[in-house]
Amino acid sequence: KNMSDKRELPIGIFDSGMGGLTVLKAIASLLPAENLLYLGDTARLPYGTKGRDTIVRYTLLAAGKLVEIGVKMLVVACNTATSAALPVLQKEFAPIPVLGVIGPGARAACQASKNGHIAVIATQATVQGGAYQHAIDAINPGAKVTARACTLLVSLAEEGWTEGPIARAVLARYLDDIFHDPDAPDTLLLGCTHFPLFLNSLREVVGEETRIVDSASATAEDVAKRLDELGILRAGGETGKRDFLTTDNPERFTRVGGHFLGVAMNRNQARLVDL
Ligand code: DGL
Repeated sequence: KNMSDKRELPIGIFDSGMGGLTVLKAIASLLPAENLLYLGDTARLPYGTKGRDTIVRYTLLAAGKLVEIGVKMLVVACNTATSAALPVLQKEFAPIPVLGVIGPGARAACQASKNGHIAVIATQATVQGGAYQHAIDAINPGAKVTARACTLLVSLAEEGWTEGPIARAVLARYLDDIFHDPDAPDTLLLGCTHFPLFLNSLREVVGEETRIVDSASATAEDVAKRLDELGILRAGGETGKRDFLTTDNPERFTRVGGHFLGVAMNRNQARLVDL
């Protein structure tokens, strides 16, 4: 394909479900002219409690679907999938550039932290894989990382219970011992695309002075930089297309997806696909 065709191709954005819509939102706001094609693998959600080999297998299938449809870049908008499968995807789909959310998230956290102690909350698979610990260590070898799996937050976010006494109690149960400590982290990194929805509740639990960062805007910056380097940014004034694919129940995907996107979605905005 020549360069001008390639510019028109969408950026493929993949997540296990709706969480990656927080990343899509950041990409759409930084690069409004880009065509975006999102795939949420809701039939297999959650990835975060599964084993590495299963996550790699699912992720290859989902990314393969986007490549088959035709994309100029793949964004793995899921921490769990990035943590388990990024190098595999980069090898499998070369020369299509494949970007993940862990590197950008680690960079944002290292920039935010003054005392060098960063707390990372993520799924069980992301914490066990150690990808954030490694990525932070590569940027700031002196940094201390306290990682905690917060499995219940994925369900709470999808249920829409992100504020109020239940959300606060669950967050406190996961985080109080980390933050009520003389050597507490000064930065909390949201290492799961579902977690930005808890921002207000997290503030109440970890206090005003803790910096809270996520991967979304740093990932969008990486996407812009890479497309520019490759000469395949889509220029022009008009807003690009946004298409949504889901592997199960488009009604639920669009209803719950609205919380993550920050604007309501209607049922016919998502199309059912099989992998
Ligand atoms: N979106 C996934 C992540 O960012 C969490 C949801 C899941 O467990 O599949 O880690």
